[in-house]
Amino acid sequence: MRRKVTVIGAGNVGATAAQRIVEKELADVVLVDVVDGVPQGKGLDMFQSGAVEGFDMRIVGSNGYEETAGSDICVMTAGLARKPGMSRDDLLKKNEEIVRECIAQVTRHSRDLTIIVVTNPLDAMCEVARRVSGLPKNKVIGMAGILDSARMRAFISMEMNIAMSNIHATVLGGHGDTMVPLPRYSTVAGVPITELLTPERVEAIVKRTANGGAEIVNFLKTGSAYYAPSAAAIEMVDAILCDKRKILPCAAYLEGEYGINGLYVGVPVVIGKNGVERVIELNLTPEESAALKKSADSVAELFTKLTC
Ligand code: NAI
Ligand code: 2OP
Repeated sequence: MRRKVTVIGAGNVGATAAQRIVEKELADVVLVDVVDGVPQGKGLDMFQSGAVEGFDMRIVGSNGYEETAGSDICVMTAGLARKPGMSRDDLLKKNEEIVRECIAQVTRHSRDLTIIVVTNPLDAMCEVARRVSGLPKNKVIGMAGILDSARMRAFISMEMNIAMSNIHATVLGGHGDTMVPLPRYSTVAGVPITELLTPERVEAIVKRTANGGAEIVNFLKTGSAYYAPSAAAIEMVDAILCDKRKILPCAAYLEGEYGINGLYVGVPVVIGKNGVERVIELNLTPEESAALKKSADSVAELFTKLTC
C-alpha cells in the first residue's frame, strides 16, 4: 500500500524534508504552502528529479488541503523562521495563528494521522497542534531533540576526530536556551564523554550545542537551519512508517514522567507506528533534574501565552 505524507510549508525545512522523503522512497508527498505557485513549482521540480535519481514516489504541491486526504503523517513546518536577534519564542504569536489554521485544515481531511511539529517555538506549537487536532498525545510529537543531539554529536566528532556513527548524544528539555545536553549520557563507542574529555571541553560542547541554532542563524542572516532539521524530522517519519521502535529524543506530552505534568518537553521516547509508544525515564542527578525543571518551567511560561 502506498503511504502518504503531507508536508505543510514549502520553505527551507518543508521543501528539504519533502525531497528527503521521496528520495528515500518513504511515501508519496503532498507539499502545501500558502504562497501561490511555490508548492506546485517545487513539487513538480522534485517529481522530475525522480527520473534522474531513480525514485518512483509521487509528489504534488498545493495551496489547499483536498489532496492531503488520507495522509498517514503530517510534517508541520509552516511559519516564520528566526532572524538574527530573534529568539524562537519571539515567533509565538504569529506562528500560533498559522499552526492553528493549518492543523485544523489537515485534520479535517485526515483523521487518523500522526503530526510531527517542527514550527517554533517548538514545544508550545506542539501543544497548539494537540489542542486543535484533538488527537491523542502519542500522535502529536515535536522534532527538536534529534536535531539538538545531532549537533552535539557533530561537535564531539569535531573535538575528538571520531566518526559521528560512533557517537551518541542525549539532549533533554525544551527546544530553547534552557535545553539540557547531558554529557553523562553522551558517549563515544559506549564510553561517556565525561571520561574522555576535560570538564572545560565538555562544558564548551554543552554551550555550543545549546547555542547551535543561533550559530547557524548568525551565519545565514536571513533564516535558520534546515538541512539537519529536515533530516531529523525524516528520521521520525521513517521510524513511524516502518514501525522501527527507535529510541529518539522528541518533544512528548508528559503526564507525570520526570515529575512534569501537562507539558511538551524533550525526552527519549520509543517511536513506532503509534507515534510515541513509550517515554523512557533516565536516572538524573539532582543537578540534571534541576536543569530539566528549569527548562520545563520556561515551556510552561510559553504555554500561558497561548490563546487556543
Ligand atoms: P521558511 O520561511 O523557509 O518556510 C516557511 C514556509 O511556511 C514559507 O514557505 C511560508 O510561505 C509558509 N507558510 C506561512 N504561513 C503558512 C500557512 N498559513 N499555510 C501554509 N504555509 C505557510 O522557514 P523554515 O526555515 O522552513 O522554518 C519553518 C519553521 O520551522 C520556523 O518556525 C522555524 O523556526 C522552525 N524550525 C524549527 C526547528 C526545530 O528544531 N524544531 C528547526 C528549524 C526550523
Ligand atoms: C534551530 O534550532 C531555529 O530551532 C531552529 O535551528
